[in-house]
Amino acid sequence: MTGLRFALLAPDALDAVLELQREACGPLMHPLGKAELSEMLAGPQRGHGAVLGALTDRALAAFLAVQFPGRAAHNLGRDYGLPEGDLDRALHFTGILVHPDRRGQGLHRRLIETAAQEVLPPERHRYWFATVRPENTASVCGMLSVGMRVFARKPKHDGHDRLLFVRDLSAPAGG
Ligand SMILES: CC(C)(COP(=O)(O)OP(=O)(O)OC[C@H]1O[C@@H](n2cnc3c(N)ncnc32)[C@H](O)[C@@H]1OP(=O)(O)O)[C@@H](O)C(=O)NCCC(=O)NCCS
Repeated sequence: MTGLRFALLAPDALDAVLELQREACGPLMHPLGKAELSEMLAGPQRGHGAVLGALTDRALAAFLAVQFPGRAAHNLGRDYGLPEGDLDRALHFTGILVHPDRRGQGLHRRLIETAAQEVLPPERHRYWFATVRPENTASVCGMLSVGMRVFARKPKHDGHDRLLFVRDLSAPAGG
């Protein structure tokens, strides 16, 4: 992939993230709210999440929003059956979006791999979770390509059925 730089986005990227989401979210992603995005943009040290961007010289080409759900009721670790003490070691890939001009170039996988290697504090996180609409083929393939697997299918967010993905980093990929 040429011409792209990966970087942890700062709070002042809020408008750029929202603009890309408005422009290119499509019908299959549950759009992120301004308040939850702001919390994630506050960065990993603040403990709510992180947003990784793929940037050109002039614009945001893609982003991955990662949420640290902690003990919240919506922590997907509860659906997976994690014991209460492990919920703090779960994170959600809560939004991933690639500008239409950059799709089909493996950015879905690269965003997740880059976040895992360079942004997410490894000692805090053992379980990756994500929800994806079954008809969102590119995102389903992207999640599988980073070693995630489906553990359930149920309505989430707006009531649409979603596949629930997990990867336990202490197990082999796909485990
Ligand atoms: C979903 C999305 C992020 C994928 O981004 P992308 O960078 O184009 O995806 P990739 O190029 O990494 O492709 C991911 C996988 O899907 C496959 N794929 C891509 N488009 C496909 C299609 N139309 N049909 C079948 N497979 C497809 C790719 O071959 C790749 O599989 P592989 O890893 O086995 O090679 C992008 O389409 C998008 O931004 N969609 C709108 C927002 C959204 O729906 N986000 C996901 C829900 S949170």
